[in-house]
Amino acid sequence: MAGVGTDRSLAKSVSAVYQERYPRPSITQRNQRLTQNHPTKPFLEVLSGRRQPVPPIWMMRQAGRYLPEYREVRAKAGGFLDLCFTPEFAAEVTLQPIRRFNFDAAIIFSDILVIPYALGREVRFEVGEGPRLEPLDTPEKVETLARRADFGKLEPVYEALRRVRRELDPKIALIGFCGAPWTVATYMVAGQGTPDQAPARMMAYSHPDAFAKIIDTLVGNSVEYLLGQLKAGADALQIFDTWAGVLPPREFARWSIEPTRRIVEGVRAKVPGARIIGFPRGAGALLPAYVEATGVDAVSLDWAAEPSLIRERVQTKVAVQGNLDPLVLIAGGAALDRAIDDVLANFASGRLIFNLGHGILPETPIAHVEQMVKRVRNFRA
Ligand code: CP3
Repeated sequence: MAGVGTDRSLAKSVSAVYQERYPRPSITQRNQRLTQNHPTKPFLEVLSGRRQPVPPIWMMRQAGRYLPEYREVRAKAGGFLDLCFTPEFAAEVTLQPIRRFNFDAAIIFSDILVIPYALGREVRFEVGEGPRLEPLDTPEKVETLARRADFGKLEPVYEALRRVRRELDPKIALIGFCGAPWTVATYMVAGQGTPDQAPARMMAYSHPDAFAKIIDTLVGNSVEYLLGQLKAGADALQIFDTWAGVLPPREFARWSIEPTRRIVEGVRAKVPGARIIGFPRGAGALLPAYVEATGVDAVSLDWAAEPSLIRERVQTKVAVQGNLDPLVLIAGGAALDRAIDDVLANFASGRLIFNLGHGILPETPIAHVEQMVKRVRNFRA
């Protein structure tokens, strides 16, 4: 973490504000339901160890193209990064799904690739093609990578957080996020998304020292970025490791678990009570090890997670979030009801935040989202 995240005055103020707002529960308070005598955010209650009778609910990618009001602002903003970096627009699209569905959490509208952008890499989003970056695919190119991001470029994200914070109902939590170093590195190395992230896997095998330099750079800057988001008003953080599942166990430990552990440790060094959710998509049977080693407060589950493994070896330690298949949300009808009931039957007897197993897809009918929210909110354990 050398050179980054060392601003003590910032750290102190973040920590003080955060601890005051969300005192960490004692061990005995964890894992049990408590009577509340102050207004609370159900989402944060679950992350703090207190199961809620009705699971709080939000959706990954809840601000997005399935909403006509998003498409309208998106068109006005021009490019995707212009949308992310115009606080007025970013705050507006963050709040859109809250107005429509009254979710328990808002996630700040941004992208995991703003970190490479702030590191001075070229980042573009082509319509219909996804992200494009200048590939960082040789040890020589890695030598030229900046150590510290230009955080001035990320100031609009902080400003969007402050705006959302001001407008958000106090019962609704605000989530900040970043990509896990492994997942961000896969895009930086290949310069685009690929089916199995072979270019980054190859570089990690062939040039582990150069690859470690990319990862270390991302760890330090992600810590600083997440602390900035907490200071700007985020209540909790999520670390997206979308491509964790393409790694063999040894590589998973080195490139997914260890950097995530360092981020959690780095954030908590300044904000001891920081609530953090990890999303190691596709981790499968490696999830217990991920939870044990990283110190996250919750894991977001993809839809293939095996329920008894999760109940016995994951949910006994942390909260879980998930894990409806986004495709069944498109299908709707009785198949959707059955899939929602499965998630609730599998996980609602413990600490659960209802969510999808990955982001909502643009084709999803809004009526199906309404059907899901209604069914989850009518649930009583
Ligand atoms: O969840 C939210 O509503 C907050 C916003 C958010 C976006 N991206 C907005 C976005 C979040 C949390 C992300 C994270 C992200 N970005 C991840 C990790 C989570 C995941 O979904 O796997 C990844 C891998 C990225 C990188 C990225 N950004 C890709 C691969 C793409 C193209 C794919 C696509 O859906 O088009 C993006 C673009 C992007 N990020 C869009 C949105 C709403 C769509 C762009 C558009 O509106 O034109």
